[in-house]
Amino acid sequence: MKISDTLSRRGLLMGVAGASVLASCGGGGGGGGSASPGSSSASSSSSTSVSGPTLPDPATAPALKTHFNGKFLVGMTAEPNEINNAISQPVLKTHANSITAENCMKPHAIGTSAGVYNYTLADQVIAFASANNIAVRGHTLLWHSSAPDWFFAGDSTSATYKATVQARLERYITDVATYFKGKVYAWDVVNEPTSDSAGSPYRNSRWYQVLGADYIEIALRAARAADPTVKLFINDYSTENTDKLARLMSIVDTLLTRGVPLDGIGHQLHITTSWPPVANVRAAFQAAETRGLINHVTELDVSLYGSDPGSCFGTPATGCAPSLTEGTAAYWDSIRAQALQYRAMYDLFASQPSVKSVTTWGVADNHTWLSSFPVNRLNHPLLFDTTGKPKSAFWAVVNPTFVP
Ligand code: XIL
Repeated sequence: MKISDTLSRRGLLMGVAGASVLASCGGGGGGGGSASPGSSSASSSSSTSVSGPTLPDPATAPALKTHFNGKFLVGMTAEPNEINNAISQPVLKTHANSITAENCMKPHAIGTSAGVYNYTLADQVIAFASANNIAVRGHTLLWHSSAPDWFFAGDSTSATYKATVQARLERYITDVATYFKGKVYAWDVVNEPTSDSAGSPYRNSRWYQVLGADYIEIALRAARAADPTVKLFINDYSTENTDKLARLMSIVDTLLTRGVPLDGIGHQLHITTSWPPVANVRAAFQAAETRGLINHVTELDVSLYGSDPGSCFGTPATGCAPSLTEGTAAYWDSIRAQALQYRAMYDLFASQPSVKSVTTWGVADNHTWLSSFPVNRLNHPLLFDTTGKPKSAFWAVVNPTFVP
């Protein structure tokens, strides 16, 4: 995947994701392939099943949260669906000491209307976490792709419109951060504020259009006032891209100069088997460190599609690599490359004291947003397979001598 693709694909996401947030909240759980891996064959044709790597006995797998104890919290997403799912629940309980709601704590899910909130599903996540001694990362108080219309209702030409929208935002963040006070250890206060193109560093979102760059400061100050100790984050994707990182850091520098409360940078790290190089991710961590901020990896997954021949992340999506078939030689090649990419990333995370939390965007390959984004195709981007067993990527991460 080209860098430009990485960026434009997120632009596309932002156009479509909001609409699906409500639908997917508490739902999902599908996706992933159904073919059984690893039956051998003499033929090497691209559609013929071949053996995958021989993996260690799953019973010998160390718990990730123990393996990385003292380095960083090990996080995974957990909607009620994953919590109650026979495949993902044991993985969560064994390996995670941090969870992030994939959708149920977003404004679309919680903010029914001004002053009216629906915490039903979020409460289930909090209850599961608390029963299993797992910390919760709050995601997210403000996101352009999950911004219900009621925030912006009214006559945009009236003299009071801007103040009205600001008051709604402040009330929402105050109420929600107060509700979860003591229940979440960090908030992605503002998700994806950075532009994908040169020029203004700010994404031209509805929030930006109405409140200007101030909306970020307004959100952070409201969150801090509501909860004095929770860690406050700006979270974004493609921080591994040098130009995008520079734009994000210019936003951050403006905030810090103004004394706005901010504790860390969230790096989503939706990456692939072939992108990015470790040095780019290291540079992103260092950019935060030099400003006295901590780092969280917030949405890690490693797509099996290292590159697409066309503009798979454009609108419309064209030239997407065809769907892989589980168990073919091409599939196992990708799984091998994925394992090496995961190893390189976790080796980096473990070497960086500023990295305090690392979350994968999903639990196991039976449920991943990449099954339908940017197009419907098989994708197995996580550390555990569709049955919840550790994959090559898992073993590559925990065992330096494992050859994927
Ligand atoms: C995605 C969810 O995984 C999907 O289920 C939903 O339809 C759209 O949002 N960046 C983010 C996440 O910050 O909140 C997004 O999650 C993925 C991209």
